[in-house]
Amino acid sequence: MKYKYLRDLLFLLPPELSHFIALHTTSLMHRLHLTHLVAGEVPEDPIEVMGIQFKNRVGLAAGLDKDGICVDGLGALGFGFLEVGTVTPRGQKGNARPRLFRLTASEALINRMGFNNEGVDVLVERLKHTRFDGVLGINIGKNFDTPLEDALNDYEYCLRRVYEYAAYIVVNISSPNTPGLRDLQRQDEMAVLLETLKKVHGEMVERYSVRVPLLVKIAPDMVDDDVRQLARRLLAFEIDGVIVGNTTVSRAGVTDEPLASETGGLSGAPLLSQSNHVLQIVAEEVKGRMGIIGVGGIMSGEDAAAKIALGADLVQIYTGFIYQGPGLIRECVEAMRSH
Ligand code: FNR
Repeated sequence: MKYKYLRDLLFLLPPELSHFIALHTTSLMHRLHLTHLVAGEVPEDPIEVMGIQFKNRVGLAAGLDKDGICVDGLGALGFGFLEVGTVTPRGQKGNARPRLFRLTASEALINRMGFNNEGVDVLVERLKHTRFDGVLGINIGKNFDTPLEDALNDYEYCLRRVYEYAAYIVVNISSPNTPGLRDLQRQDEMAVLLETLKKVHGEMVERYSVRVPLLVKIAPDMVDDDVRQLARRLLAFEIDGVIVGNTTVSRAGVTDEPLASETGGLSGAPLLSQSNHVLQIVAEEVKGRMGIIGVGGIMSGEDAAAKIALGADLVQIYTGFIYQGPGLIRECVEAMRSH
């Protein structure tokens, strides 16, 4: 079945409702063994990054399945890895609706979801019952009402809770929709955060005799010097990997869109060049000493291959997946195989 027809139907509905329906339909189709109707064959393209074996380099970015309700269904679509979350210690409703907007002519989205999620304990319980045997990353954050000076406790709590269930863990300090969160990217704040999390991480490695890589997800909205400094910091703290990056607060390229003035993070096609710019700087600084996941604006196989050419080891998709459907996974895998 052509995804385009499904998309035309889904796009008749408000964005958040259509995401909800698409996620639950994916889950249902998997349970009815009907996934093949929407997903094509995805070729094998195994690769090892950060000590993890991936079956291909294309992952689902955080935020689509925050609570891990559709891990088995999404896994069956052929992704090389999935990232669930962002989860916070306590469940929270997120911002008032509407909080997700489609900029269809620009193949973009603006969201100000605000980490709506059921909380880390619910996620962990749910993950115990999934059958997915691929690579599952878990992305952690802080509750919106936790003061910034106590943010550390939220990350520490989540890190301890998810350690046993994650193939890798992502510290999200780059969402634009939790007030003050991005301040944690500043030198001093980040040093305190990473120092403590590394200590807790070391404790977890000992306890479980497994080293689960720790990654940091960064924003694409920093000036070049700040990006370089941040990359050096991550290396100094021996962080295993970096995800470049989150949504942008910039509206470059979409100012003509009627919904461009909505507050939130912009994702999709208009984000590609900005996220690639930051990716290139990070890759130059890191020079193969840390895993790099390139995210932002991948709408085609060519876009994914460009991220690999700039230095990413893996890529993730979100908005492109909404606009192009599961066929984008195969297209990206095939385009990157030639690299
Ligand atoms: C996101 N993204 C996101 N990232 C994250 O680390 N935690 C999250 O909870 C969310 N939530 C979320 C919700 C929605 C509706 C969107 C569109 C995006 C960001 C996402 O993972 C990715 O970094 C960006 O969307 C850029 O990639 P794309 O969408 O251009 O492929």
